[in-house]
Amino acid sequence: MQPYEKYLKEILITEEDLQKRIAELGAEISRDFAGQTLLLVCILRGGVMFLTDLMRHITVPHSIEFMAVSSYGVGRRESNGQARITLDLNTNIMDQHVLLVEDIIDSGHTLASVLELLSTRKPKSLSVCTLLDKASRREVQVPIRYCGFVIPDKFVFGYGLDLDEYYRNLPFVGVVDLDKYKGNPLG
Ligand code: IMP
Ligand code: MG
Repeated sequence: MQPYEKYLKEILITEEDLQKRIAELGAEISRDFAGQTLLLVCILRGGVMFLTDLMRHITVPHSIEFMAVSSYGVGRRESNGQARITLDLNTNIMDQHVLLVEDIIDSGHTLASVLELLSTRKPKSLSVCTLLDKASRREVQVPIRYCGFVIPDKFVFGYGLDLDEYYRNLPFVGVVDLDKYKGNPLG
């Protein structure tokens, strides 16, 4: 038994449902960008699982890049509105079709900061693909072109999303039982 099983309240999205929806998103993106090339920008670290599964379903030629943004640290559950870029792109995005790949949009602050920065670099287009959208928590409006699932206001982990940095490897998205979780992901 792994420690997380004690505070996994429920599986919100199964592996099967995730994979089915990701294949649909990949097909939609492939249709929309047919005949063009794409740059997928993954926001570390939560977006990694989603990126690697999604790109297998994208049939237009594309390259990948990574950015890291710190919105909140271990033990915190909310953005403070000030996202800091901790790893920037290694490539010039001018005149490229850029698709940001995110794990989850909560308040929207993280994404708003990234969009603001990248738009100053004059990409040909800049759009957003998020696996999860906690729409009811939005504080700043952000344009979402592709969305996997709209989810309720619950703290989730697995499939790239961490519980204090652990369990990103789980193939499903689960809900944390905050009555049982005492802040030690290994305890
Ligand atoms: P925002 O700036 O409030 O939109 O927060 C977005 C970031 O917070 C995401 O990229 C995630 O890394 C993290 N986040 C928000 N909600 C959750 C959650 O339920 N589980 C794990 N990480 C989350
Ligand atoms: Mg996180």
